[in-house]
Amino acid sequence: MAEIRGIDGVDFAGKKVLVRVDFNVELDRDGNAMERFKLEASKETVSRILAFPGSRVALLSHFGRPDGKRDEAFSLRPLQDDISRIFGVPVRFVEDCIGTAVTEGLAALSDGEVLLLENVRFYQGDEANDTAFAASLAEPFDLFVNEAFSVCHRDQASVTAIARILPSYAGMRLLEERDQLDTIRRDPAHPAVAIIGGAKIETKLPLIREFERTYDAVLVGGKVANEAIDQGISFSDKVSLPADFQGGEARLDIGPMTTAMFIEVVKRAKTIVWNGPMGKFEESPYDAGTNALVYAMSESAANIVVGGGESLTILERGSLIHKVGFVCTGGGAMLEYMSGKELPGLTALES
Ligand code: 3PG
Repeated sequence: MAEIRGIDGVDFAGKKVLVRVDFNVELDRDGNAMERFKLEASKETVSRILAFPGSRVALLSHFGRPDGKRDEAFSLRPLQDDISRIFGVPVRFVEDCIGTAVTEGLAALSDGEVLLLENVRFYQGDEANDTAFAASLAEPFDLFVNEAFSVCHRDQASVTAIARILPSYAGMRLLEERDQLDTIRRDPAHPAVAIIGGAKIETKLPLIREFERTYDAVLVGGKVANEAIDQGISFSDKVSLPADFQGGEARLDIGPMTTAMFIEVVKRAKTIVWNGPMGKFEESPYDAGTNALVYAMSESAANIVVGGGESLTILERGSLIHKVGFVCTGGGAMLEYMSGKELPGLTALES
């Protein structure tokens, strides 16, 4: 595994530090942030940097997909109070992520305060991985810390180009996620079981194929299972598709027979990777299959790694986030890493 520079031993005293975080969370109907776990992920690294005298921290994130244009519906401002509560420090918001607004915002910070910058995807330069834009992001800062494993699959200015401009380091959480995923990818305890649900067979198929090769069992549910069945995709005996469903022709959840069969496999597992719900979990009773499997996992002594936005929401809803193994903030990033792909955001941090 390539060496990635972490923040241990870095002297942040008096330094202006840009921390790339991932505050790209779903909001509920009242505009409250869900996936709070994702908001918490950078807290430890930020606290560590703030402990250095005279350090200044600005948080940089994307939020949704505003297509390179300023659009208030995708502003990060509504998260300001949440971030302040979660980090336990005052958070000041600036309406831009480059230019004088940032320079002035940094100058106005007192010790222990944090700056939250506006959505980096208000600029096309981010997704275009534009070097000049990355230079504008970097300009007011001395150091860059990437604490967003979940965007490391994106070759974008605020993830990769900037890491080649400023002295750059990996946040503590990013390294932990990389290490956890690496262990269960390369050296899982057997029997090793992958549970894959959610939607989009085209993104999940490479992962199912990889686990089919390296794991003992792959349990497939959710929309992915429907898509695989409808497309007539064939798998080896290691892969189990649902044998029965709930929800009539729409097949909205795995059925009781499948649930019981999947639970038996989970009970014997020593490693479990879980990504995506088994059915339309947001609508009762089609959450039954997912809930039953989550409960079985919470009772299991296996090494469990969970990833993906919907999986986080399910765990948070059942207050199980700290009971079901290691939770990875990455959805797409986890899928790509576990499928054996290199993540550009990690490569950019290699020593
Ligand atoms: C995620 O939510 O998986 C990450 O924030 C990446 O978001 P993106 O798919 O919009 O790049």
